Amino acid sequence: MSDVSEPIVVMGVCGSYDLDSANGRMLEIILEECRELGAETVIWDHGAKPLPLVGAEGSWDDQNVKGFQEMAVSADAFVLSSPEYHGTMSGVMKNSLDWLYSKHTSGKVFGLICTLGGQSSNNTLNHMRIAARWIHGWVTPEQIAIPNIKEAFDDDGFLVNDDINSRVRSLASSIVENTIKLRR
Ligand SMILES: Cc1cc2nc3c(=O)[nH]c(=O)nc-3n(C[C@H](O)[C@H](O)[C@H](O)COP(=O)(O)O)c2cc1C
Repeated sequence: MSDVSEPIVVMGVCGSYDLDSANGRMLEIILEECRELGAETVIWDHGAKPLPLVGAEGSWDDQNVKGFQEMAVSADAFVLSSPEYHGTMSGVMKNSLDWLYSKHTSGKVFGLICTLGGQSSNNTLNHMRIAARWIHGWVTPEQIAIPNIKEAFDDDGFLVNDDINSRVRSLASSIVENTIKLRR
C-alpha cells in the first residue's frame, strides 16, 4: 500500500524517439498541468537511454530496460503520447509498452495522447488503450488526438486550439484525480 500523503508520480512515455518533437512537447504540456494539480512527474528519454527491441541480443539484461522498468514501478500513473504511424502507434511506443508487464503497471492510471500529420483518427488511441488494458492499466475516458500537427503549436510551442487546450486540462485532472482515488 502506498503512502497516500505523498504526491502521486506521473510518468511520461514518448512514442517519438526524440523529446524535441511534437509528442515530447505534448508530454511537457500535460505533465506541467499534472504538476499544477500537485503531482510529481518523470519522463523517459529514449534519445538519451534507448530501449532495445524486445528479444534483441542482450536486451533481457539491458541497463536502460532495467531503468525504464524501475521508473515505471516508481510511478502511480502514466501518460502515453505517440505519433500515429500508418494508422497505429509508433514502433517506439509499442516497444516501450512491450517492456512493461502488469507487475510494473497493474492498477495504475493511463492517459493517452496521439498526434497526426493528417486528419484526426482514434486508431492510435484505441490501440494504446488495448495495450494498456493488457498490462492491467486503468485508461481514462478522457483522451486527446491532435490532427494536422504541423499547425498545432505557435512559435513558442503552445497549443493554438482552445478545444485541445481544454482537453489537456481535462485529461490532466482525470489522471491526477483518478490516481488519487485508486491509491486509497
Ligand atoms: C512512418 C510514418 C508514418 C506516418 N503515418 C501517419 C498516419 O498514418 N496518419 C497521419 O495522420 N500521420 C502519419 N504520419 C505523420 C506523423 O503522425 C507526424 O509526423 C507525427 O505525429 C509528428 O509527431 P512527432 O514530432 O512527435 O514525430 C506518419 C509519419 C511517419 C514518419
